[in-house]
Amino acid sequence: MSVQEIKIGDLNPHAFIEEQCELISSQVGDSKAVNALSGGVDSSVTTILAHRALGPRLITYFIDNGLMREGEPESVVSAMRNLGVPVVLVDSRNDFFSALRGKTDPEQKRQAITDTFYETVFGRLVRESGALYLLQGTIYTDVEETVAGIKRQHNILAQLGIDTEELYGYKVIEPLIQLRKPGVRAVGKALGMPEKMYNRPPFPGPALVARVIGEANPERIALVRKATVVVEEELAGAGAFQYMAILHEDRVTGMRGGKREYGLQIEVRCWDSEDAVTASPTPLPFDLLLKLAGRLTSEVPGVVSVTYNVAAKPPSTIEAI
Ligand code: XMP
Repeated sequence: MSVQEIKIGDLNPHAFIEEQCELISSQVGDSKAVNALSGGVDSSVTTILAHRALGPRLITYFIDNGLMREGEPESVVSAMRNLGVPVVLVDSRNDFFSALRGKTDPEQKRQAITDTFYETVFGRLVRESGALYLLQGTIYTDVEETVAGIKRQHNILAQLGIDTEELYGYKVIEPLIQLRKPGVRAVGKALGMPEKMYNRPPFPGPALVARVIGEANPERIALVRKATVVVEEELAGAGAFQYMAILHEDRVTGMRGGKREYGLQIEVRCWDSEDAVTASPTPLPFDLLLKLAGRLTSEVPGVVSVTYNVAAKPPSTIEAI
């Protein structure tokens, strides 16, 4: 792997910001750049950094792919606008759901997200805006896992030998590629971002698709979205690195109102981790697990079974697909 990691102990966030701003500004020159804000830590830090470097030469988009959490498009866009960064909201829900239709294989689902994002959506936005560059918040861990063949992280291109200029018509700039999550958070803090933003639990680029086993259609995304609201409300105070609900494909027999219900299964995962490379399940109090099960079976239509993952990464991974 040709990218050189900057370890947290060697990182001077203020010097890093200055250096990266200069690099971004000199690379983009008088032309324009676009970037996609998802609201996650990496993309938010990239957005603020690029805004600082480029000012009006940057157009920031929030792509509503239909796969985000409850209320996320509106809240992310308004939080960034409050920091003085203009954001254009783009409705691309149809593009993503048509690309995902009928796909059940994890890597094919990830590939569909990548193709829709870079080719369909950004291909179009770049043509319309006349931009020559796309800035994105790829981090060192994303590269590592993709190159190792564990998961094709949605945002890895050059490391897989993909020439974005030839394929999509724009160059990609990745200012955070040498950092892991704690380094990104330190840079976010040094940029003056609110703590809620730089300390947010990670959320994957493929969004809720990473948490639906089997086909990720609008109905199944809506179910996992509802389950996510419950899990995030109940586990926000657990001090964990990341926590999530996963919708399984297999059905199981349950009962409701004295009748048989061939229902759905939700798996809850809650992780302790430093940097997502290794992780272990948080030892949650049993009462909290029971409360989660009670809420998930009553608030998410059709759910009759709730499990808690107790396997560590490795051999598990943090997301389910
Ligand atoms: P895994 O599931 O590989 O996840 O153990 C490690 C960390 O990366 C996040 N993740 C992603 N982030 N694009 C991203 O930007 C992706 O395709 C992707 N897949 C997983 C995951 O949430 C965890 O924090």
